[in-house]
Amino acid sequence: MIRKPFIAGNWKMWGTRAQALAYCERLLELLPDPNRRRADVGVCAPFTALDVLVERLREREVRVAAQNLHQEENGAFTGEVSAPMLAEVGVDGVVLGHSERRQYNCETDRALQEKVPAALAAGIDPILCVGETEEEREAGETDRRLRHQIREDLERVEDERLADVVIAYEPIWAIGTGLTATPAQAQEAIAFVRALVGDRSEEAAARVRVLYGGSVKPENAAEIIAQPDVDGALVGGASLDPDSFARIIEAVPEP
Ligand code: PGA
Repeated sequence: MIRKPFIAGNWKMWGTRAQALAYCERLLELLPDPNRRRADVGVCAPFTALDVLVERLREREVRVAAQNLHQEENGAFTGEVSAPMLAEVGVDGVVLGHSERRQYNCETDRALQEKVPAALAAGIDPILCVGETEEEREAGETDRRLRHQIREDLERVEDERLADVVIAYEPIWAIGTGLTATPAQAQEAIAFVRALVGDRSEEAAARVRVLYGGSVKPENAAEIIAQPDVDGALVGGASLDPDSFARIIEAVPEP
């Protein structure tokens, strides 16, 4: 299979080191051995928990991702963390452009244009989040919004590296609201995102993983992930309980 599904938990601002340790213990009890998993699995956590997670999860082939980085390697950017610093801790990925960061932390497409290549240069896979607001969807502007974000945020990524970016389509109206996109809405938007990557490189479009995110739960995961263009899920709230996260991973259909 070209694109093995990827199920990533986005802890957002949750996960003390003690919580992370307890989480790993339970998740590892529940997860099948890596060669029997139908999906790649990852956890996106706050900076302070990353080393704990890397130590516990890496050997068991669970990927660990941060939730932000600064595009410069070092310098006068108080409070920021760079891609090489994350690489040193041993993380595999980093969430970039999450709508909460776009909304509350002034994350701009301009900055993302530099952050995405900075992650790739350090050997860290970016998980780039894109998605429209409710008003944009109602005004029929979903495609315009996605086109703008994909074009801008990936502008400085070479075509050969495009498929190393994981893209998460997360409609803002579905995040943390309990309102999930219908499987058909997720499929349509994700096929569109894939076509946008295809405008740059057909080969990358075939290989790039595009996830759905927004109120994914054990009850709705199977139907969404079964859509032909949906390559997995970025799960917020329902990933904080390892039992419910493991049920979502189990919901991935047989290839
Ligand atoms: P949610 O969050 O699953 O709680 O809606 C998804 C996300 O923000 O990544």
